[in-house]
Amino acid sequence: MLARFIRQRRDEQQAVPMAVAAVASRGSTAALSSLVLLVLVLVLVLASSALPASLAVTSPYVRPPARATLPLLLQDDDDADGQTPQQVHISMVGPDKVRVSWITDDDAPATVDYGTSSGEYPFSATGNTTTYSYVLYHSGNIHDAVVGPLQPSTTYYYRCSGAATTTPSSSRELSFRTPPSTLPFRFVVVGDLGQTGWTASTLKHVAAADYDMLLLPGDLSYADLVQSRWDSFGRLVAPLASARPWMVTQGNHEVEKLPLLEPKPFKAYNARWRMPYDVSVSPGAGAGAVPSGDNLYYSFDVAGGAVHVVMLGSYTDYGAGSAQLRWLRADLAALDRRRGGRRPAFVLALVHAPWYNSNEAHQGEGDAMRDAMEVLLYGARVDAVFAGHVHAYERFKRVYAGKEDPCAPVYVTIGDGGNREGLADKYIDPQPAISVFREASFGHGRLEVVNATHALWTWHRNDDDEPVVADQVWINSLAANPACNRSKKKM
Ligand SMILES: *[C@@H]1O[C@H](CO)[C@@H](O)[C@H](O)[C@H]1NC(C)=O
Ligand SMILES: *[C@@H]1O[C@H](CO)[C@@H](O)[C@H](O)[C@H]1NC(C)=O
Ligand SMILES: *[C@@H]1O[C@H](CO)[C@@H](O)[C@H](O)[C@H]1NC(C)=O
Ligand SMILES: [Fe+2]
Repeated sequence: MLARFIRQRRDEQQAVPMAVAAVASRGSTAALSSLVLLVLVLVLVLASSALPASLAVTSPYVRPPARATLPLLLQDDDDADGQTPQQVHISMVGPDKVRVSWITDDDAPATVDYGTSSGEYPFSATGNTTTYSYVLYHSGNIHDAVVGPLQPSTTYYYRCSGAATTTPSSSRELSFRTPPSTLPFRFVVVGDLGQTGWTASTLKHVAAADYDMLLLPGDLSYADLVQSRWDSFGRLVAPLASARPWMVTQGNHEVEKLPLLEPKPFKAYNARWRMPYDVSVSPGAGAGAVPSGDNLYYSFDVAGGAVHVVMLGSYTDYGAGSAQLRWLRADLAALDRRRGGRRPAFVLALVHAPWYNSNEAHQGEGDAMRDAMEVLLYGARVDAVFAGHVHAYERFKRVYAGKEDPCAPVYVTIGDGGNREGLADKYIDPQPAISVFREASFGHGRLEVVNATHALWTWHRNDDDEPVVADQVWINSLAANPACNRSKKKM
């Protein structure tokens, strides 16, 4: 109990000094009182930061040291003005629409002009603009607009806030490629990204992959209360996130609750990373997600309904009677009611704190969520569960209730995107029988759903600056396994 408390505090540890520095530099009386508060928190945190003893690691790979946080990325555009779109990222909305999200410093219209030829924008969509404040920080104008219907596997050229442009920089053209509407479908999976030199290395490797969509199981910016770091993270990932849909769920670093000052959790995350939680598309139309009504958990289909992805929220209520649990039950039950009995070939789930974990870091933190939800995922024959949080890679066998089970999900921890807290390299010894492969290195994963029965999972370690395939396994669809779908548990 105490050990768990210590580990949780340790995760917050680096956030607090940074917040103190940021607030102190503002120098107002409000800042002074929050400074006093933060110093108190800091003292508490340091008092509880005893580290557990170290054990041997499994992999023989000798890791280079952690890399520093990148200096705050400034606007790279010489003639940028207040209406220059920045931090552009996109996400899927149903089977054939895309939400474009971006920020401008000054007022600018929430319009996206787009088309399939460079420089020609026959279509236009207008969305909404929001802002938020956090202690003394005021965000820029956060815009989003949904474009479509779009053709699958097609490159679209677009510009944001284009109608108000007067300078060439703000009419800058971007492009994205829509995902295919059939298999094969290629995901990249990367967790706990942050914004360090290792993040840059991981992103370079991801950019070199030919993929359709990126999935992120939580811990995006490691802004850790310093809101301008959400902006620098947005600029760091924009070259990739404006070109392919990035579907994300929250980690503990997204919560950003501050006692008394910022009681509302997920303020920045919800404002900046809006996901399709409210999309209602009829099952069978190729996107049978049940709307969740909450940005902190949602689901969606890709590849014309061949793959269903469930994004769960590890840091919002998931227990008995919670809205998330009710929604999850409804969402999974709907899989069997697809028109023509066309159940998705693959069902994937993402969480932040892993439900299975043989690393010493964050032991037990996913247990309560697992107790609440594992039986539902098992009953729905979820094929794989990806988690972050532990800054290392680990792949388990198919596991249910702690034991190997041929009809249960494969569990993967992929919290090794490149964050500033470094790697979690202390493992429980001996390696449990259900753990197949574990290594504390930075890297990213790729899941290629080849056809209705086969998906190939590959983990690419950042071997210094080269991506090296370090683990690979075929995952066979449980829906296509008669031994599993006949014995389906009642939910
Ligand atoms: C803008 O936001 C309002 C309120 O949330 C919503 O009802 C409306 O549909 C949004 N408009 C667009 C174009 O997204
Ligand atoms: C699906 O892909 C796997 C792996 O490439 C292959 O062995 C199998 O024959 C494919 N199934 C079909 C029906 O094409
Ligand atoms: C169960 O597996 C069989 C054999 O692959 C398949 O034909 C059937 O559609 C599956 N049923 C469900 C509900 O997935
Ligand atoms: Fe985390």
